Amino acid sequence: MSTMTYEGLEVLYSRQQIAERVAEMGAQITRDLDGEKLVMVGVLKGAAFFLSDLSRSIKADATFDFVAVSSYGKGQRSSGAVKLIKDLDQPIEGKNVLIVEDILDTGLTLAYLRKILLQHRPKSLRIAALLDKPSRRIEKIEADYVGFSIPNLFVIGYGMDYAERYRNLPDICLMSPDQPE
Ligand code: IMP
Ligand code: MG
Repeated sequence: MSTMTYEGLEVLYSRQQIAERVAEMGAQITRDLDGEKLVMVGVLKGAAFFLSDLSRSIKADATFDFVAVSSYGKGQRSSGAVKLIKDLDQPIEGKNVLIVEDILDTGLTLAYLRKILLQHRPKSLRIAALLDKPSRRIEKIEADYVGFSIPNLFVIGYGMDYAERYRNLPDICLMSPDQPE
């Protein structure tokens, strides 16, 4: 029987660094809300852990919803086409909405989601992205809250995948080109 280990993967941000930064983001979001309610809209599946941790750092009356979009196929490259696979469950009209996403990369996903969600006429619409790769941007879009800004590296762990794997790594690691498939 072979045992899969994650030894040898380079850690970019440790679980402690992530926890500290996410707590700071939550405090900032709490301050900006100024006592108002919040609807957090997580983008499945990559943002699952980020939403779970971020939401517990936000001291406000908050609810969750989730959307899913078609994104990267099996590998590290995007097809460019974005499609909504799972829509909101609850109306967001007149609400303060925070989109919670793992990575802002080319911006195609968040530009598309922002357009779709704005059609629901929320009171406010902000974006929290754990990671930002500004050098990769195609669409003109910025997040209101960014955990870490990184160069053009492919990362895995803490929710982020390569071909659906590695999401359960507790740290954010670098995907090395010679990683066994
Ligand atoms: P965008 O539409 O190009 O901004 O892509 C955003 C999505 O691509 C993210 O939600 C991730 O799912 C995925 N993605 C981009 N970069 C990475 C990465 O380094 N590792 C894992 N997924 C990534
Ligand atoms: Mg994603």
